[in-house]
Amino acid sequence: MKILFVCTGNTCRSPMAKVMATEIFGEGFIMYSAGLAVAPNSPASDNAIEVMEERGLNLKYHKAQSVTQDLIDSVDLILTMTSTHKANISQTAPKKTHTLKEYAGNALSSDIRDPFGANIEAYRTCADEIYQALVVISKKLKKSDDKNNVKSETLKLVEKVEKVEKVEKVEKAENVSNLHVIDHPLVENKLTMLRDIRTGNKEFRELVSEIATFICLEATRDAPLVEIKIETPVCNTTARITERKYAIVPILRAGLGMVDGVTTLLPTAKIGHIGMYRDPTSLQPVEYYCKLPHDVIDREVLLIDPMIATGGTTSAAISYLKKHGIYQIKVLALLAAPEGVAFLKEQHPKVKIFAAAQDEQLNDHGYIVPGLGDAGDRLFGTK
Ligand code: URA
Repeated sequence: MKILFVCTGNTCRSPMAKVMATEIFGEGFIMYSAGLAVAPNSPASDNAIEVMEERGLNLKYHKAQSVTQDLIDSVDLILTMTSTHKANISQTAPKKTHTLKEYAGNALSSDIRDPFGANIEAYRTCADEIYQALVVISKKLKKSDDKNNVKSETLKLVEKVEKVEKVEKVEKAENVSNLHVIDHPLVENKLTMLRDIRTGNKEFRELVSEIATFICLEATRDAPLVEIKIETPVCNTTARITERKYAIVPILRAGLGMVDGVTTLLPTAKIGHIGMYRDPTSLQPVEYYCKLPHDVIDREVLLIDPMIATGGTTSAAISYLKKHGIYQIKVLALLAAPEGVAFLKEQHPKVKIFAAAQDEQLNDHGYIVPGLGDAGDRLFGTK
C-alpha cells in the first residue's frame, strides 16, 4: 500500500511523518511526502532533521517536492496535516484523502500545527503528535482485511507489469543490446586467473569478489546525482551525492560469492536471496527459498547470477521479481554464454546484463566454454 503525507512546504511535518511511518508500518507499505507550497529540492528544516535523528531516523538527504497529479493518482491513501491541505487535495481525490488525525480517529481536533520557525521543543511535540496518530493508523490498516484494497493493489501491479512489457517489446524490436561487457585490462587479468584450473578455492573466492566490485562499478554508472550543500574545512560548497537505493539479490548458491565485492561499493544496500532448483520432471525452475527486503520496490535490484549459461534460472528469477512488482533490475554476472544472453533478451529485453566477459558457447553438459567450470563448486570447495 502506498501512502502520501502532505503538508505545506514539505520540509517539516510531512517528511517527519514519512520517515516515522516507514519505520512503524514496515513491510508492504511505501511512504511518500510532498507539499502544497514548495521550494523544490529544499532540505528538511534543521530542527526536523535533529528531532528525527533523536529517534534514530535520517532526514538529512530529504528534498522537498510538490504534490503532483501523478503522485496523487499513484498512491492509495493521502494523509494531510491539516483540513486546509485536505480541502486542496480533495478536489481531485476526495475518497482517499483524510487528515492524519481524522484518519487516526481523533474527532476533537484534526490539524497538526506547523512548527516551522519554532524552537526544537515545538518540533518534538509535533513529531510526538504525528507518531501517536501513525501508531493508531498502522494498527488499523494492518488489522483491516480490506479485500478491495488488496484487489486494487493487484490490479495496479498487473497494469505496471503490462506497461513494462510494452516498453520491453519496443526495445526488443529496436535490437538494443542487453549485454554490457566490462572492458578493462585489470578485469581481464583477474578473469584469466579465475579461469585457470590451478587456482584454488581461496584465491578463486578473492578473485570473484574483486571482479564483482568492478562489475558493480559499471552497473551503477547511471546512478543519478543530486546536489547538497556541505561545509569543507575550507569553505561552504555544493557537492553531489547519489540517493539511489539498491538491493543486492544473489541467486543461491554461486551468487553469494559476488555479494562481498558488490557491498564494497554499496555498503548500505539491502540484501535479498533467491533460491531455485530445476524440477527434474517438469524442468521448470522451482523457488525453494526467496526473501526480499520489505522496501525492495523502492530500490534498484542488482540480481547476481555469476554464470549465465542457458539463462533459464536467471530468467525465472527476473520473472519472480517482476511478479512482485519489481522492474528496476540489472543482472551482474562473471561470464555469460551467447545462448543465455539471447534467451534473456527474448524474455526480458529491458533487463541489462553486466558481465566480465561473453564466452564462446555452451557445451553438451550446459557448461560455458571456455568458462571456468562450476562456479559454486570452485567457490565453496565442494568438488
Ligand atoms: N554454471 C556454472 O557454474 N558453470 C557453467 O559453466 C555454467 C553454469
